[in-house]
Amino acid sequence: MRKKIVAGNWKMNTTYFEGEALAKDIAGKHKEVPAGVQLIVAPPFTHLCCLTGPLREAGIGIAAQNCANHESGAYTGEVSAAMLASIGVQYCIIGHSERREYYGETDAMLLEKVKLALQHNVIPIFCIGERLNEREAEQHFEVVNQQLQKAICQLPATDFAKIILAYEPVWAIGTGKTATAEQAQEMHAYIRKVLREKFGAAADSTSILYGGSCKPSNAAELFGQPDVDGGLIGGASLNGGDFIAIAKAMITGKG
Ligand code: 13P
Repeated sequence: MRKKIVAGNWKMNTTYFEGEALAKDIAGKHKEVPAGVQLIVAPPFTHLCCLTGPLREAGIGIAAQNCANHESGAYTGEVSAAMLASIGVQYCIIGHSERREYYGETDAMLLEKVKLALQHNVIPIFCIGERLNEREAEQHFEVVNQQLQKAICQLPATDFAKIILAYEPVWAIGTGKTATAEQAQEMHAYIRKVLREKFGAAADSTSILYGGSCKPSNAAELFGQPDVDGGLIGGASLNGGDFIAIAKAMITGKG
């Protein structure tokens, strides 16, 4: 049985106090989320230290949105996996397309980040996905394959078993344009096939989340697909009610 996960990526939104209010709202509504669905929130770095305790007490997982590709040292402005672990952060989003695109993060850097996170028992939520022009040129499978080959497929099997993946087609992020349930399923099944070729049956236990304009109105259909194990939610995770509604759809969708 794969874990069903709904994770909220707040990106660079909310002041600390807005974030605290949002976290309280989500924690208050958490009891509405069916057992068996793991909720995770990824607030900005500045919020993590104060929010980790209350969120974990409420049974909600806490993630960072990024970590450094170095253990420690003279890397001004960076936050290490060890620092995250030291305050109880359990997960870290790595390889989000916004990091790849705007901050030039390469596959090699992302592999370093994944390894460091795992060394500190922080679980990577590793993002992959193609741009619009790549889909239009029908290169989407190969783009995703390369992203997997250059990072996740380099891990030893014991580390691979800990990873969460998120398929986020770049053209669907923050655009209101969602992949259809068929497009999501097709790619998730492909990702699992690639992983199975490398890691065997372990790939059947890996949770693969969908991200990209996921909202209460389309979540159940997306989550109803056999290889879609949850969602990585951007905009809609900034509203507690919508985020919880999406988490509830995890069960509606799976029936
Ligand atoms: P949106 O849900 O705002 O499209 O963002 C998706 C995303 O990038 C989550 O990491």
